[in-house]
Amino acid sequence: DWNMPDYVNEAIEKVRAQVGQEEVILGLSGGVDSSVVAALLHRAIGEQLTCVFVDNGLLRLNEAEQVMETFARNLGVKVIHVDATEQFMGHLKGVSDPEAKRKIIGREFVEVFQAEAQKLPNARWLAQGTIYPDVIESAGSKTGKAHTIKSHHNVGGLPETLNLKLLEPLRELFKDEVRELGIALGLPHEMVYRHPFPGPGLGVRILGEVRKDFADLLRRADAIFIDELRAADWYDKTSQAFAVFLPVKSVGVMGDGRTYEYVVALRAVQTQDFMTAHWAELPHSLLGKVSNRIINEVRGINRVVYDISGKPPATIEWE
Ligand code: XMP
Repeated sequence: DWNMPDYVNEAIEKVRAQVGQEEVILGLSGGVDSSVVAALLHRAIGEQLTCVFVDNGLLRLNEAEQVMETFARNLGVKVIHVDATEQFMGHLKGVSDPEAKRKIIGREFVEVFQAEAQKLPNARWLAQGTIYPDVIESAGSKTGKAHTIKSHHNVGGLPETLNLKLLEPLRELFKDEVRELGIALGLPHEMVYRHPFPGPGLGVRILGEVRKDFADLLRRADAIFIDELRAADWYDKTSQAFAVFLPVKSVGVMGDGRTYEYVVALRAVQTQDFMTAHWAELPHSLLGKVSNRIINEVRGINRVVYDISGKPPATIEWE
């Protein structure tokens, strides 16, 4: 039960007291939690903060540009932008098992992050966007997806390897409090209220082997879906919405010709806790518009389907 402006000041003072004159590194993902940590730390310690943003080639359309725009250009945060697309794609080549893909993406992230951190010998702290539910989750089960999620997002093991102290300024906050804090710190509403995005990104939304050309098609289809959801005022009524690339070809017609191209599935769910979820009953007119736009604008996709599976028995992601 606290008041936000006071909380902001308290949080800032606490960080200053903890960190003193030392330097801090933060892995900025573009997600809500790490974004709020970046804004808070920048406010508290300014130039003592360096963020590392790793583009793994599996981000959403223009995501890297948006992160650089918001943090580096608008707020003046020091952000090192690493384009590691080639490295991630190289290691994912020929790999189609979902858990194997997750492991590779997590491992390569640690690799890239570590290499960047070693270029900052003055850093003494590693900041992470751990929030209260993460703390509870990791106190419980040591296996299963909850742990996988946490270990990717919050790069477990890194502080020890890098010999850094851990700074977790959101540790006591629930998600809605993190969002309020983000708004109080001046972050854009679209960033603070963005749907969650899994650590492995499009890597688990391209079924089977991940390829850069598939990721490029998927990014464009996904962006159209999200644009139209926002335009129809459905974005905030869904908990998560995205496109999935199916590496399956089907026949279509275009003009006088026959096409033989890939399929995209649309997924939109409503949920309180992401443990169970309902598929969103989006208006047919909205689905129709999204489908038309994807097929007309994204050459390489000639069929769009809508996923009407609940969780359980399906999961929210397809892998
Ligand atoms: P599922 O597909 O298990 O997803 O119903 C539940 C929630 O978890 C997210 N998710 C992940 N997040 N790394 C993450 O950081 C992962 O490997 C991962 N797998 C699923 C998913 O997007 C949904 O919000």
